[in-house]
Amino acid sequence: MRLRRCPGGTSRVALRTRRPRCPRRAFGGSRRPIALAAGTAALLLLLAGCGGNGQDTLSPHSTQAGQIANLFWVMMAVAWGGLLLVVALLFAAWKRRQTRGGDRFGTWMVGGAGIAMPIGVVAALFFFSDVFLIRDTQAPAASETRLTVTVIGHQWFWEARYPGTRAVVADEIHIPTRTPVNLQVRTVDVIHSFWVPELNRKIDVIPGRTNRILLETDRPGTYRGQCAEFCGLQHAHMAFLLIAQPPAQFRAWLARQAKPARRPTTAAQRDGRRVFLEGPCASCHTLRGTPADGVVGPDLTHLASRSTLAGLVLPNRKGYLAGWIVDSQHIKPGNQMPDVQLSGPQLTDLLAYLESLR
Ligand code: CUA
Repeated sequence: MRLRRCPGGTSRVALRTRRPRCPRRAFGGSRRPIALAAGTAALLLLLAGCGGNGQDTLSPHSTQAGQIANLFWVMMAVAWGGLLLVVALLFAAWKRRQTRGGDRFGTWMVGGAGIAMPIGVVAALFFFSDVFLIRDTQAPAASETRLTVTVIGHQWFWEARYPGTRAVVADEIHIPTRTPVNLQVRTVDVIHSFWVPELNRKIDVIPGRTNRILLETDRPGTYRGQCAEFCGLQHAHMAFLLIAQPPAQFRAWLARQAKPARRPTTAAQRDGRRVFLEGPCASCHTLRGTPADGVVGPDLTHLASRSTLAGLVLPNRKGYLAGWIVDSQHIKPGNQMPDVQLSGPQLTDLLAYLESLR
């Protein structure tokens, strides 16, 4: 027989000649807690990357987004409070059992703290989110908002129309500040979800339905939005910019967007326009004021006024635009635009024309 002293002071006696075993420690060894802490730290670091790009739910820029962020912090506090309470009670129960064994107090704790309290807490959270939050983030009736914008989801870009004008834009949706804007959102193909995290909650975009969401902010700025429902291969590349401008700037922008496409002023631009109208571009894209009236791809009437291309995948600069035209399937595989076969001079002229469409 051998005697062995274990960590924690207990001693174990081995029967016959086998080495005496000590009880396993919680987590089964000293490395697990370190791995757990490292994993948590890595996750926090990863999540930290979610902020800072104009798409941070915890950096609200509207009343509605502020309320959503508040709900998050309240739920976070309640969850942590609940966790600490449960751990403390577990510890107390363990202590009590060691000293006194089971008693009726335990039964009361299971009934009260284990059943009644969670029901109460969850009911309070439901009341808080349902009664206040859902009501306040709901789109009001069209008559109560000062501006209506129609937003249409496509695989994979967002189109916006401004009723009462001829303006049609893609992926860069402008709204005026200090104005409740009613966005009426629909889709021409599959289910998408329209979401500007810093301004309001997300809204599903379902075929055959028009859903509404209220966007209103006092702060001019560019807010990033994202399709939040898997909608095919390029779902992640279905982002957009929501640009809030002071009302006067917005009106000037809208007036420019409502105009037909600029007429070419140089020989290269005229040749480029011919390439556009006689080649494959015109069958998928619209240029208002010209015979091009395709509806598969975005309206390109004021393409050069945009800062991005293809659902924010590329900056709108000449080289990127050229790459997109001849090799869009390499850049965004599966998108509706075929790679366009053009000679060098044709591409140069087409770029000269597209770059003039301010
Ligand atoms: Cu559209 Cu995801």
